[in-house]
Amino acid sequence: MKNDATIRIDIVKAPSSKIKSVDFENLTFGNTFTDHMMVCDYENGEWQQPKIRPYGPIELEPSAKVFHYGQAVFEGMKAFRDNDDTIWMFRPEENFNRINKSSKRLAIPEFPKEYFFKSLEALLKLDKDWIKKGFGNSLYIRPFVIATEPGVSASPGKNYKFMIICSPAQSYYTGEVRVKFSEEFSRAADGGVGFAKAAGNYGAQFYPTNLAKEEGFQQIIWTDANSHEFLEEAGTMNIFFRVNDKLLTAPISDRILDGITRKSLIAMADVYDIPVEVRKISVKEIVEAAKDGSLKEIFGAGTAAVINPINGFGYKGEKYELPKLTESYASFLKDKLMKIQYNLAEDPFGWRYEV
Ligand code: COI
Repeated sequence: MKNDATIRIDIVKAPSSKIKSVDFENLTFGNTFTDHMMVCDYENGEWQQPKIRPYGPIELEPSAKVFHYGQAVFEGMKAFRDNDDTIWMFRPEENFNRINKSSKRLAIPEFPKEYFFKSLEALLKLDKDWIKKGFGNSLYIRPFVIATEPGVSASPGKNYKFMIICSPAQSYYTGEVRVKFSEEFSRAADGGVGFAKAAGNYGAQFYPTNLAKEEGFQQIIWTDANSHEFLEEAGTMNIFFRVNDKLLTAPISDRILDGITRKSLIAMADVYDIPVEVRKISVKEIVEAAKDGSLKEIFGAGTAAVINPINGFGYKGEKYELPKLTESYASFLKDKLMKIQYNLAEDPFGWRYEV
């Protein structure tokens, strides 16, 4: 790693912008990408100079280790434009720390902090026109690392690419979301990679989620792999349950992602005197609370999804609907969180980061 003073980002600008062809009012999450991307190669035992290049295909050998052993990790971050055209990010240092934690678990070399922030800022400055004003508009930022070394021996690669791509975003989920509590499949096991944003954690959810979709659910809430008795996370979001006036969420473990939105909500709830219990949550207690009417809300929390209310859940063939509340914790906390993100309110936590 070079020291801060020597870091220079090598920039090649796109000859023209695609921005005029994009319908910013009708974006599907994750389908449109900005004009540029960041690429940094790990070669000869060190990260090389970060480069910004026009967004486009990259060339890899078919034997690159990422294709065979899934040595890949990623992050999800967002940038926002305020009414004065200043660009803000939300707690980016948390994402930086987490991608290195994920990398370490997947035997990927950690990425230098100065490279991350300098190249990210250069990329956002170049593509800032893609960050639209308006509550709900954002730029979703996807840093990721892949093992590029050719060769199918089952060992960590010697070469990697750290890349950042960006996609203008509105909502992740459109429409109502109902979830199935997992009875059979597991997302993560003790001692595994559940806490990491490892690409394979997500790919492994697709098949059980497809089965749940056939039954009318959009997502699965994963239960613990040993007993399937405790509710953990939804895979694209951490999960909160409101029983009477209390919020419940599962503790972080080596199976559960240490969600940045999750921990922000816990801190905000404390400020607004919303009681929160971080503890194991049994399927049994949530089913009973749904039956006796004390279960008021379930919502997911994540960077892409922000805070997404869950309208109902299914378990062992039964379907449960949640009440439609006029004053929900989900909408209260979402409004407070987004006002911090869009610089529409004070930020007593120091979470906003000016680009
Ligand atoms: C995020 O919220 O940023 C995530 O990484 C979830 C992803 C599946 C969209």
